[in-house]
Amino acid sequence: MRKVLKWVGIGIGVLVGVVIAAAVLLYFMGGTRLSKTRQVQPLAIAIHNDEAALARGEHLVKAACASCHSDDLSGTAFLADPAIGTIYAANITGLGERRTDEELVLAIRHGIGPGGRQLVIMPSESFIHFSEEDLNAVIAYLKTVPRTGEDTPEPKLAPLGQIMLAAGMFGQVFPAEYIDHDQPFNEMPEISANREYGEYLSRFCTSCHGEDLSGKASGDPNGPFAPNLTPGGGLANWTEDDFIQTIRTGVNPYNYHLDPDFMPWKSFAKFEDEELQAIWIYLKSMPAITTELE
Ligand code: HEC
Ligand code: HEC
Repeated sequence: MRKVLKWVGIGIGVLVGVVIAAAVLLYFMGGTRLSKTRQVQPLAIAIHNDEAALARGEHLVKAACASCHSDDLSGTAFLADPAIGTIYAANITGLGERRTDEELVLAIRHGIGPGGRQLVIMPSESFIHFSEEDLNAVIAYLKTVPRTGEDTPEPKLAPLGQIMLAAGMFGQVFPAEYIDHDQPFNEMPEISANREYGEYLSRFCTSCHGEDLSGKASGDPNGPFAPNLTPGGGLANWTEDDFIQTIRTGVNPYNYHLDPDFMPWKSFAKFEDEELQAIWIYLKSMPAITTELE
């Protein structure tokens, strides 16, 4: 009997040891990943700001950036949990004084911050699809936004957060790791309710709804599934009006209220009618992809 107990004790001891070793390993893996750098040579762009560019830039920033960086662009906390860590969508005001144009191209198109640090969450996989004109417009406008609010801290994870990061529990959090950094600028489609412009704008949706828009699980374990937007999903029977009303009000045709913390409809509601129409035309033109999850 004693002998059996002894072996059970040793077994438990070994198990505990293995678990601790794995946690320590993951902790160090998570720590080094958060400070990992990457060198990318960005495309050169000479920023020019005329009235049309500034207006276009402001429009795009309100529709595509304010949901994370806050309405006045001074930043918001994504994660502020002492047990896991702190991650802010950075304060992006006053960048004209703090960053070079090249640094802004790297941050927006490539998800790479000053010193080559890979930015977390910043969805550059969407913004690498900007045309040269639109990237110019966004940067030109950002540079006119005067500095407001406090400096936001760089991301920092507590040991538990580092273990969760290394174990893949947050999903893919470094867009710089999976972007094709050699992509050229996209052509600028005509800005009207047409399919090409809809496809162009739909790149703002892929980071959550999946590269082919057929739906994707949230990076946040508590976040709702981002549904299939192709004709193979729940929007198959919607009208254009249903779609536009859903984006404008956050309430879908079944009277379901979309969670604004996970589906940034308040920002996308800033798209013009013709822009939402263009997205709808594109969604309707897509192949019907069916997925098990909706
Ligand atoms: C899904 C949320 C999200 C959206 C949408 C988003 N960002 Fe970010 N962005 C972040 C986060 C988070 C960081 C900070 C990441 C870090 O420090 O590792 C960041 C960082 C940045 C930085 C680097 C700031 C610095 O100090 O150099 C710039 C510039 C930036 N974003 C611009 C934009 C622009 C322009 C848009 C819209 C076209 C945009 N972001 C949309 C989340 C987002
Ligand atoms: C930051 C992540 C994110 C982005 C970016 C995003 N979505 Fe969503 N979307 C979601 C999530 C999550 C839901 C489900 C919300 C819920 O269940 O409360 C959703 C729901 C929707 C719905 C409602 C579907 C239904 O069946 O009721 C539509 C329509 C939609 N999104 C369209 C878009 C379009 C168009 C874009 C791009 C312009 C976009 N989304 C960008 C995360 C996102």
